[in-house]
Amino acid sequence: MNIQSQVQLKPFNTLSLNAIASHFIKVKTITELQDALKFAKENDLNVLILSGGSNMMLPEHIQALVVAMDIQKIDFITEDEHTQTIKVGAGQVWHDFVLWTTEHQLYGLQNLALIPGLVGASPVQNIGAYGVEVGEFIESVEVYDRKLNQMASIKAADCEFSYRHSIFKDDPNRFVITHVIFKLLKKADLRMNYGDLKLAMGDEISAENLQKQVIHIRQSKLPDPKEFPNVGSFFKNPIIKQTQFSQLIAKFPNIPHYPQTDDRVKIAAGWLIDQSGWKGKQLNQVGMFEKQALVLVNYSDATLTDVQATYHAVQKDVFKHFGVQLEPEPVLYDRCGFIQNH
Ligand code: EPU
Repeated sequence: MNIQSQVQLKPFNTLSLNAIASHFIKVKTITELQDALKFAKENDLNVLILSGGSNMMLPEHIQALVVAMDIQKIDFITEDEHTQTIKVGAGQVWHDFVLWTTEHQLYGLQNLALIPGLVGASPVQNIGAYGVEVGEFIESVEVYDRKLNQMASIKAADCEFSYRHSIFKDDPNRFVITHVIFKLLKKADLRMNYGDLKLAMGDEISAENLQKQVIHIRQSKLPDPKEFPNVGSFFKNPIIKQTQFSQLIAKFPNIPHYPQTDDRVKIAAGWLIDQSGWKGKQLNQVGMFEKQALVLVNYSDATLTDVQATYHAVQKDVFKHFGVQLEPEPVLYDRCGFIQNH
């Protein structure tokens, strides 16, 4: 077992925060994962599971065993007339996997192209974009259950997928995702209703073009983490009660909003931040991106404290203007690798 000590996690988190892990291991198999978990137990270390690092805020020092998930491989499992089921290792790069599905004429995930991160993290916050959420195409999730010390398969219906949420968020220390089982379509059922996607598609109505346009739209709005370290949308779009929404829309008739199936309304956090004057604005070396106010960028070697100073200031200003509390999307970790409340 190759456990390394004092490892710099800057290249492993897309916000590029300086974070030194006391212990670190990359695992490629379930056996290696089990050995790593055993080592942590014997040495009284907490375990922090690292996937693509595209949704985390890490402190400067972490006294824990950081386990980077690197289980690869894609296997065809079963098929019927309309669908193909495939099993995908948690360590596969998400975007490369989406491109692979399109090359193999398997459809459903094209709207989710270019989302940073790895396959294993995709069910955790039920990644979503352009009218599709990954949970719709997941059949089950294979996990190592740290409570029962055994492998388990959790059906999609039991994952409780909703907007940026699943059971893996409620109980973050229990399950380590090893594989995701997807059920994809053999014939594309294109979702083009989101924003200007349909317009961008022009006359070429195909899954290949849909994927191409999603990539194009994302590249035109969202900063490349290699150039401008970021975690995609930094805040969730708030979902508020109809009563509060009615008061807001009376004062701000242009607020972009999406009615939910219950008596609530989702409103665009990017618009709230933009209107509060934060688009393209920085506090020290951390700011909100000039082309998309929802994305927080580490412009030069920021620490977690710098990131917190900026996002707390944004939250304060949005609350002052609109009475709406923004909630960060990325997960915040403490010095022992435990997940913190924001
Ligand atoms: N807006 C502004 N100013 C801005 C940004 C946005 O006025 O600076 C307005 C836009 O004009 C639009 C509305 O806010 O009317 C919504 O903006 P956009 O279409 O860019 O989408 P979003 O709500 O900001 C969400 C997801 C993205 C996903 C897109 C497309 C969340 C938190 N974010 O963004 O997900 O790609 O929709 O589906 O739900 C991510 O989670 O990392 C992510 C990028």
